[in-house]
Amino acid sequence: GPSGAEAVRWWARMMRDPMDAYGGLFRRYGDAVRLPRDRRRALYLLSRPEHAEHVLVAKQDNYVKAFTYRPLRVFLGDGLLTSEGETWRRHRRLVQPAFAQRHVTAFAPGMAGVAARGIGRWPDGVMLDAAAHMRRITLDIVGRVLFGSELAAESDATGRALADLQRSAVIGLGATFLGDAGLRRVFRLVPGAQRAGAQLDGIVRRVIDERREAGPGGEPDLLDLLMRDDDAPLSDAELRDEVLTLLLAGHETTAAALTWTLILLSRYPAARDRLEAEVDEVLGDGLPDAKDLDRLPWTRAVLSESMRLYPPAWTIERDAVADDDVAGAEVSAGSTIVISPYLLHRNPDLWPDPEGFRPERFLGEQDRPRHAYLPFGGGRRICVGASFAMMEAVLVLALIAREARLDLAPGVAVPSRAEVTLRPARPVPMRVSRR
Ligand code: HEM
Repeated sequence: GPSGAEAVRWWARMMRDPMDAYGGLFRRYGDAVRLPRDRRRALYLLSRPEHAEHVLVAKQDNYVKAFTYRPLRVFLGDGLLTSEGETWRRHRRLVQPAFAQRHVTAFAPGMAGVAARGIGRWPDGVMLDAAAHMRRITLDIVGRVLFGSELAAESDATGRALADLQRSAVIGLGATFLGDAGLRRVFRLVPGAQRAGAQLDGIVRRVIDERREAGPGGEPDLLDLLMRDDDAPLSDAELRDEVLTLLLAGHETTAAALTWTLILLSRYPAARDRLEAEVDEVLGDGLPDAKDLDRLPWTRAVLSESMRLYPPAWTIERDAVADDDVAGAEVSAGSTIVISPYLLHRNPDLWPDPEGFRPERFLGEQDRPRHAYLPFGGGRRICVGASFAMMEAVLVLALIAREARLDLAPGVAVPSRAEVTLRPARPVPMRVSRR
């Protein structure tokens, strides 16, 4: 990797735009790069499946969430995404049962109902912002299915707050040496950061207060699990952190996956024709259900291939607790390891025609290495909502394909923005043709 002044230039680039810097390092130095950080520590950009296997699974006990998550932690606190150790373990034990397969199956009709209502309102011929509509549907689903709350009306405000929060998290990268209190002071100076925090806090408080007033009723949902009053209940602050984490982690990623998928389908009409044929044959007129998932292999392959090219969680970063040897890379304690699904998914050694959109890669027998494909991460910190997200994305995409065809407005480029998530940088104007 680079050293001296060259390394300083790469760090500056990384603080401005991490994905641009990682991509540049990968192209210039290959799939195992060392970027020195100080006398002892370095950042390692490792993009082979054996690296991912080592850091996320085999030797996961030697790794904790990296210092690069500290700015995000100022907002999300002790929620699952950003906590560690005993706190993380306790929260994970509390949250995980809500995502058991039988629950996810039971969520399917609710998910499909929300999606059908959203899509049903699209008039023929209208131009809409696909990104905003996908965020609205996925926020509505998380709100109703997991929290028993109506959130759709807040989707635009949430989207803006989230964009501000993500931008702040990248700005905060340059100030992580200040610690949490220092970062909080920095965020007071970042335009939009305070407003974003207050906005999101308001939504979370409403979700919690509504449930406190109504009391539990019906089938216990995720919120009931989090608010359970047993011998070790979550504190108010922990509850707030967890609801906020699940609200954010649970809708923006799926929205981005769906938006990228619609963009790709508009560019690859043959893949879209095949999707429409599959959906027409399987769904009929009713709402799709969990049992339809196995009957929609092309729909699933389209989503998998879209998340290969545009993994919403595009980077996974860990700090080494003790010195380690990661498949030949000598890593010193305190160093940071970047496993980027984005880079791994486009590594030409693993994927023929890496830039091409070819869903058929995900049909039938697949003989690639196990950790070549990591949209949901791996090891014990694997996405707790992975099967929820897949169920949701398949149902939403299948319903869209049955009802409407979306075409990207002619001549519109869709640049990406990679902060915490990888998403379109601007609104995505698409024309609706009802089928
Ligand atoms: C963690 C991706 C949807 C909740 C993660 C991680 C990835 C990921 C890669 C691991 C991060 C790391 O190891 O540092 C995605 C993608 C999604 C998605 C691509 C959609 C397509 C969801 C949904 C929920 C959710 C629907 C909840 C409703 C979480 C939580 C964590 C997490 C709470 C932290 C888990 C832990 O550390 O114990 N997600 N996710 N995600 N995800 Fe997802």
